[in-house]
Amino acid sequence: MPACRVTRRVHFNAAHRLYHPGRSDEWNARTFGVCANPNYHGHNYELDVTVEGEIDPETGYVVDINVLKRLVEEKLLAHLDHKNLNLDVPHFAAVIPTAENIAVYCWQVLAPAIPAGRLAHLRLWETPRNYVDFEGR
Ligand code: NI
Repeated sequence: MPACRVTRRVHFNAAHRLYHPGRSDEWNARTFGVCANPNYHGHNYELDVTVEGEIDPETGYVVDINVLKRLVEEKLLAHLDHKNLNLDVPHFAAVIPTAENIAVYCWQVLAPAIPAGRLAHLRLWETPRNYVDFEGR
């Protein structure tokens, strides 16, 4: 059967601060600039979740996009949307919540739960001009 890539785009708002607790305030300010400001700042994130697999001859689907939508809502958005990533998401107590690290976190949560096909690609938009891509390696 032919293979396809299917993508669902989801949205979440979240606050974060980029700060390495083992480094000085000066190092953090030099490294992260305004992203290290103590009182956090927010982003309107967009996440493109791409699943790849063979088309099921019975349904014509690689993956039921509604099942994928609910999975992403349950596994990710419920924990990320309108949250402070540093304070509310245990993973980011010890990991700096850069777009790169958020993408890796999303992969680690989602990849084992994909019901059909396999997670092939994540694109996390932090702003309309900045995104990161992650493919699990
Ligand atoms: Ni930021």
